[in-house]
Amino acid sequence: MTEFSRLSAGFELDESSVQKWCVARRPDGNVRAGDFELKHAPIPELEAGEVLLRTQYLSLAPVMRGYMSGEAFAGEQPLAIGDTIHGRGVAQIVKSRHPEWQEGQVVQGQLGWQTFKVSRMTPEEKFRQMPPNGLPASLGLGALGMTGLSAWAGFYNVGDPQDGDTVLVSGAVGGVGSLVIQMAANVSGCRTVGIAGGSTKCAKAVELGCEIAIDYKAEDVASALSAALPEGLDLYFDNVGGATLDAAMDHLRQSARIVLCGSISEYTLETPFRLPNYTRLRRSDAQMRGFFVYNHLDDWDRAMDEMADWIRTGRLKPVEQITDGFEHMPTALAGLYSGENMGKQLCRVRGEPEDWI
Ligand SMILES: NC(=O)c1ccc[n+]([C@@H]2O[C@H](COP(=O)([O-])OP(=O)(O)OC[C@H]3O[C@@H](n4cnc5c(N)ncnc54)[C@H](OP(=O)(O)O)[C@@H]3O)[C@@H](O)[C@H]2O)c1
Repeated sequence: MTEFSRLSAGFELDESSVQKWCVARRPDGNVRAGDFELKHAPIPELEAGEVLLRTQYLSLAPVMRGYMSGEAFAGEQPLAIGDTIHGRGVAQIVKSRHPEWQEGQVVQGQLGWQTFKVSRMTPEEKFRQMPPNGLPASLGLGALGMTGLSAWAGFYNVGDPQDGDTVLVSGAVGGVGSLVIQMAANVSGCRTVGIAGGSTKCAKAVELGCEIAIDYKAEDVASALSAALPEGLDLYFDNVGGATLDAAMDHLRQSARIVLCGSISEYTLETPFRLPNYTRLRRSDAQMRGFFVYNHLDDWDRAMDEMADWIRTGRLKPVEQITDGFEHMPTALAGLYSGENMGKQLCRVRGEPEDWI
């Protein structure tokens, strides 16, 4: 038995109480079983202005280790030891005493790692209704949620793709990356090169639209980039930071754009990577610009309508990796930092909602 299977042994989903994963200890390196504690609590009676949310799916995202470390990431309050871990989820409203929210509606927003939540639906929780549109509710955590908006806003608002561009994407088969490579190749018609870890992920990147996929775990990235980008790159969508960003900066064409989406290769380092060759931006009038998805919420409706349309017309194929069972949230999170996931990683707590209005 592994330390994680001991943690989840004997778990049963209880429909009459709230079950929650809480921070037991600050992570040191990757998360370990001892960093988590499972707690039970009664479901509180609703007061006026509150709803009871029943969790259907929960997201797993790299930022969660930062939350567990007590950092105030992504607009969320720092967590103390014993607090429920932050995380977005899809839930159905099963009781409502809120004037604006009805039973049966499905929402996505800040649920936390718990099986029920009583909420006043405050702006800080960023709940958004998901009207039934014929597509699975699970997509509310991927293509039709903040992951999708991150890909859309980073690529279109920040990356500003132009006809004929050559686009490089790292973390190419992760939640954000798997959407960006498809938007670049299949929606915007760009020549697209992906970087991913392992032959299975590289094959997936090519299946999704990349002309070439570089296996950074098996190949020398600098020479693979030289071979794949003989004329350089116009847009680099960076999900990983570190040495890969450094190597990509040797291939900037005139007026190239680097989109700083994430730096997952640095999240467990004691000392952040210090970019040695940022001056490469100068010689090609290149730009490097970060973005934060929550600063792009004004584009939500447009982005979601476009993504849903691209899904229906087959240009965008959402890649989801679903872990079954709330009890396996800690194991699934640990897998994120060892690069095991393909596409958006989520947990099926109860699955698709019934009687969804
Ligand atoms: N700016 C924003 O507002 C915003 C919003 C959402 C996400 N983000 C960031 O964007 C990045 C991607 O997010 P996501 O949700 O797509 O995450 P994800 O689904 O976990 O995908 C990230 C991918 O990164 C790769 N990876 C993991 N460890 C790595 C390492 N040490 N070196 C290189 N690659 C590594 C993994 O693929 P391989 O196996 O191929 O390595 C993994 O599939 C993250 O850094 C996240 O924090 C930023």
